[in-house]
Amino acid sequence: RPRVLSGIQPTADSFHLGNYLGAVRNWVTMQETHDAFYCVVDLHAITAGHEPEVLRRRVRVSAAQLLAVGLDPERCTLFVQSHVPEHPQLAWVLNCITGFGEASRMTQFKDKSARQGTERASVGLFTYPVLQAADILLYQADAVPVGEDQRQHLELTRDLAQRFNSLYGPTFTVPAPHIVRDTAKITDLQDPTAKMSKSASSPAGIIELLEEPAKSAKKIRSAVTDTGREIIFDPENKPGIANLLTIYAALTGRGIDNLVESYAGAGYGDLKKDLAEVVVEFVRPIQERTRTFLDDPAQLDKLLAIGAEKARGVSSATLRTAYDRIGFLAPA
Ligand code: TYM
Repeated sequence: RPRVLSGIQPTADSFHLGNYLGAVRNWVTMQETHDAFYCVVDLHAITAGHEPEVLRRRVRVSAAQLLAVGLDPERCTLFVQSHVPEHPQLAWVLNCITGFGEASRMTQFKDKSARQGTERASVGLFTYPVLQAADILLYQADAVPVGEDQRQHLELTRDLAQRFNSLYGPTFTVPAPHIVRDTAKITDLQDPTAKMSKSASSPAGIIELLEEPAKSAKKIRSAVTDTGREIIFDPENKPGIANLLTIYAALTGRGIDNLVESYAGAGYGDLKKDLAEVVVEFVRPIQERTRTFLDDPAQLDKLLAIGAEKARGVSSATLRTAYDRIGFLAPA
């Protein structure tokens, strides 16, 4: 079976529809076809400021949501990044073969550090993509299911794998991004040319899986739409309606063409009203299951401990090889 690895940051109290449709939904399907490793990346979550108690809570909430949307610990390995010390260990090695200029060109770093002020942005934020590369390379992943915004980080990961392999001998599988085009960039409901984002969107622009469903419905109904009245799929000229159709299609399994056909002659309001209902029906059971997992934190922590143990089985072997190749003396 080919290997897959992906990660998600516990930087909010809930994942949003972009996270789910762009990435996590594919994690669920890939656990059937791949040897799958998924992690809650808490080391990444401290790169831009955080509160300890909030972080601890969010890691559990993140794991519970992942289980609630369908990750199955019998079919995949679900773990918390900081439970596996090989991640920062390999990241250090990769830091030493990453160019300063190369890291400086990462657009997510440029955006985030500009928002925080370059003087205040942490060195951790700067080397964030290198830690991400370590996450992936430790598991010899063939594929990495992510949204469009991670493409550049995946490019860097591939470059680092190839560089290490040519400097020190074949060590890492060179991974390919798995980006499903239709849902690779879910946009902000209030600003449909920008991506839906935990850190950059206004609350009205994002649908959170765990928010009050009535609130989600209201956000859909007040989503910014485009001039004109016709319901057609035209991302270029009608990004608002295109985004709503994308979400609608993804949540129901109906084709975009089929939706467009059935809304011929109807107004934006009709589409929004129906989609609001679809979203409400979609999140309700997820919220219920998330609550069930959170009701038993001891059991949840136990699942995560088993996941970390399984992850270490793979990551420790890869790290050992990488350490050997780079010339570290093995401890006697
Ligand atoms: P994060 O936590 O920001 O997002 C998790 C996943 O959700 C995807 N995503 C979206 N997809 C479509 N439309 C959107 N509006 C949208 N917003 C977010 C992201 O592309 C991502 O796949 N750097 C990663 C975390 C990470 C990682 C890894 C990923 C750390 N190590 C190793 C893969 C492999 C991140 O910030 O994801």
